[in-house]
Amino acid sequence: MVTQSRESGGYARQFAHARDEPAVFWAEQAEHIRWTRKPSIMLDDRDAPMYRWFADGELNTCDNCLDRHVEAGRGDRLALIHDSPVTQSVKRYTYRELRDMVARFAGVIRAQGVAAGDRVIIYMPMIPEAVVAMLACARIGAVHSVVFGGFSGAELAKRIDDAKPTLVLSASCGIEPSRIVEYKPLLNQALELAEHKVPRCVIFQRPTRRCELLPGRDIDWQAVLAEAEPADCVPVAATDPLYILYTSGTTGRPKGVVRDNGGHAVAMHYSAGAVYGLEPDDVFWTASDVGWVVGHSYCVYAPLLLGCTSVIYEGKPVGTPDAGAFWRVIAEHRVNVFFTAPTAFRAIKKVDPKAEMAAGYDVSSLRALFLAGEHCDPDTAAWAGHELGVPVVDHWWQTETAWAITANPLGIEDLTSPIGSAGRPMPGFDVRVLGADGHEVDDGEMGDICINLPLPPGCLSTLWQNDAGFCDAYLSAFPGYYRSGDAGHFDKQRNLWVMGRIDDIINVAGHRLSTGLIEEVISAHPDVAEAAVVGARDPDKGQLPVAMVVLKSGGNRRPGDVAAEIVARVREEIGPVAAFRSVAVVDRLPKTRSGKIVRATLRDIADGAPWQAPATIDDSSILDDIERQLEAIGYACKRDMASSDADIR
Ligand code: COA
Ligand code: AMP
Repeated sequence: MVTQSRESGGYARQFAHARDEPAVFWAEQAEHIRWTRKPSIMLDDRDAPMYRWFADGELNTCDNCLDRHVEAGRGDRLALIHDSPVTQSVKRYTYRELRDMVARFAGVIRAQGVAAGDRVIIYMPMIPEAVVAMLACARIGAVHSVVFGGFSGAELAKRIDDAKPTLVLSASCGIEPSRIVEYKPLLNQALELAEHKVPRCVIFQRPTRRCELLPGRDIDWQAVLAEAEPADCVPVAATDPLYILYTSGTTGRPKGVVRDNGGHAVAMHYSAGAVYGLEPDDVFWTASDVGWVVGHSYCVYAPLLLGCTSVIYEGKPVGTPDAGAFWRVIAEHRVNVFFTAPTAFRAIKKVDPKAEMAAGYDVSSLRALFLAGEHCDPDTAAWAGHELGVPVVDHWWQTETAWAITANPLGIEDLTSPIGSAGRPMPGFDVRVLGADGHEVDDGEMGDICINLPLPPGCLSTLWQNDAGFCDAYLSAFPGYYRSGDAGHFDKQRNLWVMGRIDDIINVAGHRLSTGLIEEVISAHPDVAEAAVVGARDPDKGQLPVAMVVLKSGGNRRPGDVAAEIVARVREEIGPVAAFRSVAVVDRLPKTRSGKIVRATLRDIADGAPWQAPATIDDSSILDDIERQLEAIGYACKRDMASSDADIR
């Protein structure tokens, strides 16, 4: 099925092959997938810069994840382990069991009128049924769109209105260490708010907290499953969408990243071997929620396409029950490769700096730890590597790409990148760092990190029903390139150093958030005249949003009361995932003469980094006021004569 050859020079050869002959390289990788019609057109560039991979191929992704392994005599191998410290349970499913569950549930959704091409929203906690729901959609050619449970009803409503689903799949509750999250009231609110009316919801009742079902609209998952007829896999075009995943853009409107079936299957299969060094039967654990791209790719699709065992985890790094949880899971399930976000290890290191809770767990099965989702500080990477006793690979990718753009590709060749860099471009990603004039800059020089088109298989094919938005957001700034939105530089060995976002997207505990969205919510408060939100550095979560708010004049509300209402409003409108708690009420916001808020300076002030009033600001006393107000809410600001480059430009 797979096996990557790990040999010296293997990376350089594969990289050059993928760059110079992409159609040939990916045709070879496509051989690992079972097609109902083999593609003859590998790369369709007739509509460039919109490219289509495997244009005339036909396949079913669920067939490749499940049925194919069962038919190959591997039905008794473990496909999925659900480890749930919050319910104190561990469940195991073989490939045959998972195929049968998925086929039956595909029968349920088909009986609800869902057909190929229809959209299905999945709003569920980390339970096996969430994986079953995704694969059941894939089985009948429906397009799933998973919405992370930490988002509010209002955010769910936006996604419902954009995707226009035929069906919503949800559960009665999620279980956070501190509370039960009742999903049903949030879903009810979303269905109420959304203009698109969803006729049916299928709800999984968890024993921890059941919910009320609305007769005529809501259907009990377990009851209909008992009566369902299994559904077979429906072949779809390689270019048909498998899923839509919404991610934060710079505005309040989320972007619906569209993933196709064919390119995605090929890329997932390739990346499982090439990036992570996985082989069939390996145990792979990705500690992410299925609501994020990492969960889609590496809790579900890649490990199953390769025939691995995927561990899914309903718990936290600390508090469920303690900071030894990661070691317990690795030891108990003999995990071979582990993937999580740096923030998770920062959380562990904070409460258990000597890793005392790890004592007694045998983690000798582990070969490597992969980190992504945010910039990884060297201390955390070194600590995690030392305590687990394995190499640590920081790799860089985005919702848009579905797999790593840069990594140390352990499955091809161990290139051992320096800590702090995100490794070398993966075969298929021709990464270039461009200056403002669109020309490549020298190694060591910062610029826009871009990818020479075409993007490899697996990357977004467009934004949902918005080709123009796709071109505008990613392809128009530098013709011929995909613009990642991150800034960074290459070193002499071609390791990429990703330094941060160019736009107003922030990264909170590995979750990508738009400051524009938070500003929109705050500005809608009746007492607020205007607001600016920036991501301030945080030792645990990487960044946290902090708002600077100007109140309307003539009001008699106490600033502290308004600030508390704003915090509650953001939680209600966006969700707890925003981790939004800091509001400084200020007199005015600093703007350039053209009316642009000087956000980079505000961020420097909040970070306690050296800052200087930009020359474009008329009255620098505004910044002194902001500094005082930020200090009052706990931000350690200090003034220096160095300049805030971004704002001055
Ligand atoms: N449903 C409902 N609420 C959720 C939720 C979910 N699925 N996930 C998180 N929340 C809530 C939390 O309970 C918390 O609420 P609170 O304000 O009442 O405490 C809030 O959202 C913020 O959550 P988070 O920032 O995730 O903090 P945490 O302490 O719950 O978890 C980590 C810490 C490190 C475990 C978590 O941030 C994490 O897993 N991050 C990695 C993200 C990731 O996988 N990204 C993908 C790239 S690898
Ligand atoms: P998301 O689309 O939610 O996965 O977020 C993608 C963004 O997270 C990227 O554009 C980066 O800004 C950031 N990111 C992800 N992985 C890394 C990494 N290894 N190093 C630095 N930043 C990262």
